[in-house]
Parts: sequence; C-alpha cells; structure tokens
Amino acid sequence: KDHRLARISSSIRVIPDFPKPGIMFQDITTLLLDHKAFRDTIDIFVERYREKNISIVAGIEARGFIFGPPIALAIGAKFVPMRKPKKLPGEVISEEYALEYGTDKMEMHVGAVQPGDRALVIDDLIATGGTLCAAVRLIERAGAEVVECACVIELPELKGRERLGDRPVFVLVKG
Ligand code: PRP
Ligand code: MG
Repeated sequence: KDHRLARISSSIRVIPDFPKPGIMFQDITTLLLDHKAFRDTIDIFVERYREKNISIVAGIEARGFIFGPPIALAIGAKFVPMRKPKKLPGEVISEEYALEYGTDKMEMHVGAVQPGDRALVIDDLIATGGTLCAAVRLIERAGAEVVECACVIELPELKGRERLGDRPVFVLVKG
C-alpha cells in the first residue's frame, strides 16, 4: 500500500452539513495547502499514467481544473476543459446529467478531442458518477477512447462506479 495515501487522506477536510444538512462535504482545499500531499497526489497519478499513451487529459470544471493540468504537463498530454454550460466560446457538444434536484449540462469544444485520442478523465470526487459519465459520453461522441477515469476521492456508498460500466475508475481515497 502506498504510504503517501494516509497523508493525502488526512489532508482532506470534511465539513458536515455543507452545502446542506446531512451532506459531509469533502473539502480538497486543505489538501492544496499541504504541499507534500498535493505533490504526492499529482505524482501518484503521473506514475500511473505516464506510460499509458494518454493523449488527452480531460478535466471537469471546477476541481478537475486543479488536478488535471499538472498531470497533463507531466505526461505530455493535451489538457481539455469540460465546462459548465455557456462558458466555452467555440462550437460545443453538450451532455445533460442528473443532479440531486434537476439537471445540469457539460460542454466540450468540438475538435478538442479527436478520433484515436486516448483520454484520461480527471475530477476531484466521484459521488453518484453522473458527472464523470457525462464527460465520458462527450469524449466517446468525439470518437476517442476513455482509458480511465481518476479522482482523488470516492464516496463508495453512492455506487458511482456502476454508472461507468466497464470503464475503469481509479481513486486515491474513500470518503
Ligand atoms: C462535485 C464534484 C464532482 C461531482 C461529483 O462537483 O466536484 O465534480 O460533484 O458528483 P457526482 O458523482 O454525483 O456526479 P459540483 O457539481 O459540486 O461542482 P463544482 O466542482 O464546480 O463545485
Ligand atoms: Mg465538480
């Protein structure tokens, strides 16, 4: 077992009842304040993906924008932002996904991901899996392959992995 994971895990602050009663919010801003934990987080992902011929790191707004770019730079892949609606200026494709109440949309620039690309999808956390699933659909619609989805934290009780089918999900810690 990786000795770095204990420090990563304890650097994540859990805030009860945010944003509403009953939710235990997994706050990665405290991980970002721990230089060694942040460095180790990036290093573990880079070690895992550097020899996997990944051409695209797709980061999901907002917190996938924190972890994705350093990984992309280190493994020599392109970084593609997966954004909330109406933020990207060019032509986009979009996918709807379910929130606890209602739906949201995720958008990606047309042409950013191309057939033959091998993508790694990055976010901070997998809960129900709906967010990662929307990102996977966008990448697959562009004709590319999702090699793996990676998150810092998984909430296993919400069974988000099941929504991803046979696409592998790699996580560092469980909340
Ligand atoms: C949170 C989290 C993941 C998503 C996981 O993002 O950062 O992106 O929820 O939930 P799911 O697995 O049930 O889909 P949020 O939608 O709160 O937006 P933010 O990252 O922009 O704050
Ligand atoms: Mg998010």
